[in-house]
Amino acid sequence: MLIRRPRGWEIPERDATPEALWTRRRTLGAGLGAIAGGLLGGRNAIAQEDPSAGMYPAMRNMRYRVDREISAENDATTFNNFYEFGTSKTIWRAAEKMPIRPWQVRIEGMVEQPRTVDFDDILKAMTLEERVYRFRCVEAWAMTVPWSGFSLKQFVEWCKPTSSAKYVVMQTFQNPSVATGQRASWYPWPYTEGLTIDEATNELAFIATGLYGKPIPRQNGAPLRLVTPWKYGFKGVKSIVRFNFTDQRPKTFWEQLQASEYGFWANVNPKVSHPRWSQASEEVVGTGKRVPTQLFNGYADYVADLYTNRQDERLWA
Ligand code: MTE
Repeated sequence: MLIRRPRGWEIPERDATPEALWTRRRTLGAGLGAIAGGLLGGRNAIAQEDPSAGMYPAMRNMRYRVDREISAENDATTFNNFYEFGTSKTIWRAAEKMPIRPWQVRIEGMVEQPRTVDFDDILKAMTLEERVYRFRCVEAWAMTVPWSGFSLKQFVEWCKPTSSAKYVVMQTFQNPSVATGQRASWYPWPYTEGLTIDEATNELAFIATGLYGKPIPRQNGAPLRLVTPWKYGFKGVKSIVRFNFTDQRPKTFWEQLQASEYGFWANVNPKVSHPRWSQASEEVVGTGKRVPTQLFNGYADYVADLYTNRQDERLWA
């Protein structure tokens, strides 16, 4: 039987609405940003050691435009969810311990040839670009983020799945000696996410390897993480080590923990509330403003067709 344990994003209902809480959180965020700013030299030094540093910045793809300011880099890199390193938002220092080279990626399941590939060889095989996307967390906060990386469609084609594959399942590394959050045995590690092949080959689905024109920092999911901007942020599995092509729909990390609150599809919809809070509006991190949530996070033109034949499913988280 599932034992209900509160998680970092699950603030009690009594705390969920007051604006003061948001303001406090933002002020805290700003304070941390300032501290982080003081250490920026250190973080840049880490980026420079990265063997892929010379590949950034990648050319921005102007097809993907967002009518919002790009979020401050300090907000995106110091206000994170990465439960492997703790349930608070301020795990960026803890995540610095994660070794990201060498980084092997396993491609397996229903593919022509299962193989293990070095991450830097994947980078060389892909066409890198930058995309500015809206990012919407299920907790009702949002950012606008310049990701660099490659389209998941390009990568899926490179993996050569067979026609039997219906899903691609992605998993994070497992190493409790550095990711101390993984010592919490009630979580179903490793973090697992999945997409249907038609979602994974939609033009929006993206594998981010960079952020703000540099290699992606560890706290954001180095060296590679998923970005699906029309879905809630928890779909964006970080620090991927495995792509498994299968005909079975996976049970994802959050679905295993609380299926009634975090489903497989997790598409953004302002009209479908989370069981414990409204999704009608979102706090834009760093601005103090709340704005209306958009269907599919503003990307309906790109993705609504994916779901026309799935209306009997629970498409919204
Ligand atoms: N991936 C792993 N492996 N572990 C996590 O805890 N958190 C998810 C997602 N990917 C998470 C993860 C959640 S809840 C969100 S909102 C986003 O990462 C946060 O991404 P960010 O820290 O880059 O903003």
